[in-house]
Parts: sequence; structure tokens; C-alpha cells
Amino acid sequence: MVYPQNPQITQIFYLCNLWILSLTAVPSTHIEPKPFLKWAGGKSQLLAQFTPYFPTQFNRYCEPFTGSAAVYWRLYSLREQGLVNFSVPMAAGVRLADSNTELVNCYQVVRDDVPALMEKLTKHREQHQQDYYYQIRAQHVSELSPVERAARFIYLNKTCYNGLYRVNRAGQFNVPLGRYKNPAIFDEAVLQSASRALQGVDIVQADFRELLHWAQAGDFIYLDPPYAPLTKTANFTSYTAVTFGEREQTELAAVFHELHRRGCLLMLSNSWTETTLALYREFHCREVKASRAINSKASKRGPVSELLVTNYPVTIAHAQANAQDPNDHR
Ligand SMILES: C[S@@+](CC[C@H](N)C(=O)[O-])C[C@H]1O[C@@H](n2cnc3c(N)ncnc32)[C@H](O)[C@@H]1O
Repeated sequence: MVYPQNPQITQIFYLCNLWILSLTAVPSTHIEPKPFLKWAGGKSQLLAQFTPYFPTQFNRYCEPFTGSAAVYWRLYSLREQGLVNFSVPMAAGVRLADSNTELVNCYQVVRDDVPALMEKLTKHREQHQQDYYYQIRAQHVSELSPVERAARFIYLNKTCYNGLYRVNRAGQFNVPLGRYKNPAIFDEAVLQSASRALQGVDIVQADFRELLHWAQAGDFIYLDPPYAPLTKTANFTSYTAVTFGEREQTELAAVFHELHRRGCLLMLSNSWTETTLALYREFHCREVKASRAINSKASKRGPVSELLVTNYPVTIAHAQANAQDPNDHR
């Protein structure tokens, strides 16, 4: 795709392309990849707001906080449509990382052996009921094969309370059964399209600090950490046995500054608080609106402001027009 030189025309051109492509019917046998997990803080609902802020040209891509990988699936589709351009071949160019070992194993199995995974998931689907759930939950992953672990992970994710991931100090998953009548445990076409999009992708269990050993100038990195709490008492910040607290937020900001110095293209999500705004104040800080799915009080599930930071100016073609971006709070 060749974009015109004028940044404003480029943006209009790009958005028109997105609109035209959204009208094109996609055959059901080859659907676009999308999350196959329910994940706290998953970004599916924010993709429409994010898309104009993605860079259109970069070298490699990394998500150090992969979760359900909503942003990667979108970038993959945009790339297939010629709307973003990775300069290196996909196989060498994408790294998906997360600290959650079971999540990472699950992506590796979806990439490497989706037929065997679907066979195990079919068995879970056939046998699903309350006692069966607690029997599978009590299994020790050290005694299971990678395919069994991945099937257990997806099964528990789709049947547990709200798709939460929580483990006790011993690392054993401890979320109770959710209240679903007929939980859709998996969708064959979604898993197959995810598997296609993961071919050649480097999938690793890693802490975000390891980015410093990987990132180079020109790489695009989307960082979506566990959010800083809005209040001192709201502290859902742990997806593993290890907590993501104030210290980790500060260290992440230091990593962001270092990657900026190296010349990486960076985009980061977090909660909209005085602390997060202060950590990223010298970058482009924009407000996006999200509806919070995981809140025990229905009255607190309305739209909330979230922070979207980039270290490059607003337009998709890295234009100089950020002064005209009404959401830019820099
Ligand atoms: C907000 S979620 C990411 C959501 C994701 N963008 C999506 O669309 O689903 C944060 C992720 O960070 C991971 N995580 C927590 N602490 C981490 C750390 N120190 N290093 C790397 N990943 C971590 C969690 O396991 C979780 O999957």
C-alpha cells in the first residue's frame, strides 16, 4: 500500500481503507484472528480507538504483556490487508511474551499442535459439569503434557467465574466455577485462525524487563501491564503468584524511557491516574474510554477513562500534526 506524502491526506486515506475493508465479507472458513481467551484487561473493546494510533511502518513487533493478544490479532489482520507494514518477515519479526507460564504454553500449543488441542478440548466440552470442573482444576500441571495443560487452561478460562486468572501461593489455580448455562469452550475456526497467525512467532515466558535484551531501534512495542489501581483499596493487579505493584509500575516507566532512547516505537495502556500521567508526562498521553467488565458492582461498570501513551506523534504516518490532536494531553 502506497500512502500519499501529506500526513492529513494519509490519515483520511488510511481510515477510508479501514472502512471499505470492514464492509468486505470475510468467508467463515478463513476468519480474522481474535482472542480465544477471556482476559481481564483484554483490549478487544478498545481496538477501534487504538487503530489510528498504530504506526504503519516498523521493523519487528513485540507484546511483553500478551494476555489475550487482542492488539496482535488486529495488527496481523491490518498487515494482511496491507495497512501496516513490518519491515522484516513475520517469522523473524514477532515476539509475544507474558510472565504467565500456562498462558505462554497455551499459545505455543495453539501455534504448534492445534488439532491435538481441539481433540482434548472436545473431551472437556463433552464432560463439562460442576464436579468435572473441580477435578480438572485440582490437576497439577507438572503431571500433564503441554497439550493437556493448554486444554486445561482454555477449559478453566471459559468455565470459571468471569474468566479470571488467579492462583494461590503454591501456584494452583483457585477461581470457582462460573455461572454459565452452556459455556462456549472453544470455537474451531477461531483457534485455527489464531494458529495460522502464530506460525513463526516467538512465544516466550518472560518478565517485561527482558525487553531490554531484545528491543532495537525501529521495533514497535505495545505495552499493556496490569493497571495501576485507581484507588488504594482497588488492587486487582495480579495475574500470577507475583504482584504487579508500585515498584513494577516505576520500573516499567524506566524501561519505557530506555526503549524510547533507543529509538523504538512505543504504545502503552494504563489506568488514568495522577501517578500514571506523571510517569509518562513527557510523552503523548491520550484519553480513551473503556467499560470495565470485571467489577462486582454492576453500578461501577460504566465507561472509565484510560490512558494511551505513545512516544511518537499522533498520526498513523508519524506526521507532525499532533498539535491538532484534541485528545493529546502532553
Ligand atoms: C492487562 S493484561 C494484558 C491484556 C492484553 N493486552 C489483552 O488484550 O488481553 C496484563 C498481562 O501482563 C502479564 N504480566 C503480569 N506481570 C508481568 C510481568 N512482570 N512481566 C510480563 N508480563 C506480566 C499478565 O499475565 C497479563 O497477561
